[in-house]
Amino acid sequence: MKILLFGSNGQVGWELQRSLAPLGSLQACNRQTVDLENPRAVRAAIHDYSPDVVVNAAAYTAVDKAESEPDKAETINAKAVELMANEAKRRNIWLLHYSTDYVFDGEKSGIYSETDKPGPLNTYGRTKLQGEIALQESRCSHLIFRTSWVYSARGSNFVKTIMRLAGEKDRLEIVADQVGAPTSAEFIADATATCLYRVSHGGEFGGQVAGVFHLTASGSTSWHGFACYLLDQMHSLSNKRRLRSQNVHPVSTARYRSAAKRPLNSRLDTQKLTDTFGIYPPPWQFHVQRLVAELCLREGI
Ligand SMILES: NC(=O)c1ccc[n+]([C@@H]2O[C@H](COP(=O)([O-])OP(=O)(O)OC[C@H]3O[C@@H](n4cnc5c(N)ncnc54)[C@H](OP(=O)(O)O)[C@@H]3O)[C@@H](O)[C@H]2O)c1
Repeated sequence: MKILLFGSNGQVGWELQRSLAPLGSLQACNRQTVDLENPRAVRAAIHDYSPDVVVNAAAYTAVDKAESEPDKAETINAKAVELMANEAKRRNIWLLHYSTDYVFDGEKSGIYSETDKPGPLNTYGRTKLQGEIALQESRCSHLIFRTSWVYSARGSNFVKTIMRLAGEKDRLEIVADQVGAPTSAEFIADATATCLYRVSHGGEFGGQVAGVFHLTASGSTSWHGFACYLLDQMHSLSNKRRLRSQNVHPVSTARYRSAAKRPLNSRLDTQKLTDTFGIYPPPWQFHVQRLVAELCLREGI
């Protein structure tokens, strides 16, 4: 199987290079080799490599900045995806793509299923939803994985920020009324590879399973709960950092000013993923513990 990957320098894209490698030959593209703002470059990459599967991990993910760059966000998150989808349909190949909890408005009291009505609150969520719709309307064979609160050893993310601040600050204020599932890029990549393996081996999977799937760790917490858990984990491995979880104070979203509005409830139901692909997401704490241990070891903390 020939796999073409876009976004190989991102959190998920980086992990995908390892997870997808055993499935066939992989061509990994980053922004320098294929810029998603350049439709000709995207088309040429697909034409030149002639893959059996395209995996798109590239996205405009700067949620606040998107409010002042809506056209750029739309080009990368929607128009480039539409182009990939039309190419995939024309060539009769699979397209695997990622979307977000931010397609929802967060008003639901329960957990969101794939059939719940989207209602994005910000430009990032709106453009990601446009990408989903374009992909579905193309009628190509596709899997869209909606995930949330992604972190990894690579890139900037909440885990890395808290670990850095733990060495710089004595106290912090963190939002406590947004709830979701912190999800490891490593888990997302491994689950993607499992799904791709299943669909590429046809049988009961084949084209029947195309559609949207929620792919997150299980359980949920707030950003405040996530920060406290991280600090407790770090403290259990080493006491060199100043900041302790008891000095992290909960604040409301209303008190924390940001350019983009964010949903309060980001909890996604992953039952469809389990029923379809036999994937049982681990509790969110599982991969957090692994990453904290890895980063502490790496930095000699
Ligand atoms: N991060 C989250 O918390 C989160 C939450 C929910 C859903 N998701 C979704 O999950 C997927 C993976 O996210 P991630 O966390 O891995 O994001 P990420 O770390 O920000 O990676 C995105 C990648 O896309 C690349 N990219 C941006 N603009 C591009 C362009 N014009 N041409 C080519 N590449 C471009 C970036 O390149 P550079 O490295 O050069 O900047 C980066 O490597 C995305 O679809 C995202 O929407 C993420």
